[in-house]
Amino acid sequence: MLNRSSFLPAWDTPEGIRRSSDLFVAAYGSRPAGVWAAPGRVNLIGEHLDYNGGFSLPFALPHRTFVALAPRADEQVRLVSDLAPDAVWSGTLDDLGPGRASGWVAYAGGPAWVLRDEGVPVRGFDAAVASCVPLGAGLSSSAALETAVALALDEVFNQGALGADDAGRARLAAACVRAENEVAGAATGGMDQAVALRSTLGHALLIDSSDASVTQVPLDLEAADLTILVIDTRAPHALADGQYASRRATCERAAARLGVRTLCQVEDPEAALGRLEDRLEIARARHVFTEQGRVRRVVEAVSAGRLREIGPDLDASHASLAGDYEVSCPELDVAVEAARRAGALGARMTGGGFGGSAIALVERAKASAVRDAVAASFAAHGFAAPEFLVASASAPGGRVG
Ligand code: GLA
Repeated sequence: MLNRSSFLPAWDTPEGIRRSSDLFVAAYGSRPAGVWAAPGRVNLIGEHLDYNGGFSLPFALPHRTFVALAPRADEQVRLVSDLAPDAVWSGTLDDLGPGRASGWVAYAGGPAWVLRDEGVPVRGFDAAVASCVPLGAGLSSSAALETAVALALDEVFNQGALGADDAGRARLAAACVRAENEVAGAATGGMDQAVALRSTLGHALLIDSSDASVTQVPLDLEAADLTILVIDTRAPHALADGQYASRRATCERAAARLGVRTLCQVEDPEAALGRLEDRLEIARARHVFTEQGRVRRVVEAVSAGRLREIGPDLDASHASLAGDYEVSCPELDVAVEAARRAGALGARMTGGGFGGSAIALVERAKASAVRDAVAASFAAHGFAAPEFLVASASAPGGRVG
């Protein structure tokens, strides 16, 4: 049996509602119109493929960001977060546009500016944010925030027309990607926003970024007596800095040289690698090509309920991300190595990299032992103590109160 008390717990719905509503009342002196929540995520496989037009297979975490919100009749916006309950941000919708908003306000407010820009009748609003998604952990706290706000705005200003079905949710996801790219200035792809809005409970979400279509892939870890242990290395992780954007730019250069729009459109990877000359372009493209093969194999195995077979592909994905894509770091490498030594069936970094989190596929009975081994290895290396979560395929964003 898993001893969950030593893993970072996810708030249940009443706790998230209480925390965000209490913050709202304390900041603004009135009640919110409702509370919306959206999850963080881990990605099982298919890393750095979304902006390369390929497949990824993330699933929603039980850890969610809660947003209590009320519409206003004017253009004013007020935002407050449980990280700084006394610091209310206040401005107008126009202040939430590209080049104007920064920090967490860009993620919380950016979707409002984009939705209005796209013709959704968004006005001013007051919002209070409370979250149990670890920040800066590569678990997509930013997309959880963007998508929870977007769902709230759609409902209070647009009769929930977009949140009601998958096509509308795909539009909301695209608006949140624009907010992240244009307002927050992070050149990320669309995986995180898609999984926060379009996944279903008990399933991983196979995303085809060539056309933004999705397929639900049943993921019942419990039935297989397995668990996915998330190791938050606590190594600082930021995607708005240059490294992520430079990976993306190198891939786009390689694609242009090969005469395709995205690297995943290449039909003969071997021949394509032979045609590239730049050492970095070759290495980055090789990761993209080999990772596509791993996604295919993992999707096949997971769909057939053969979860135990995916370990080697998780390991190979990590090696490729560390070697060819160069987005790992010492803490992530130590985490996956220690997890494997302690019996994990496979382990890899998850998300953008440069810090953040790793995942390990482990027998449920071994989860605590793997956790302890990783913690001991971090201590031996002189790293800050890592944090652990247990991941299970959870529900997408929506109204909770
Ligand atoms: C971050 C980005 C995603 C994706 C991953 C890497 O999470 O937000 O769009 O590119 O990195 O797979």
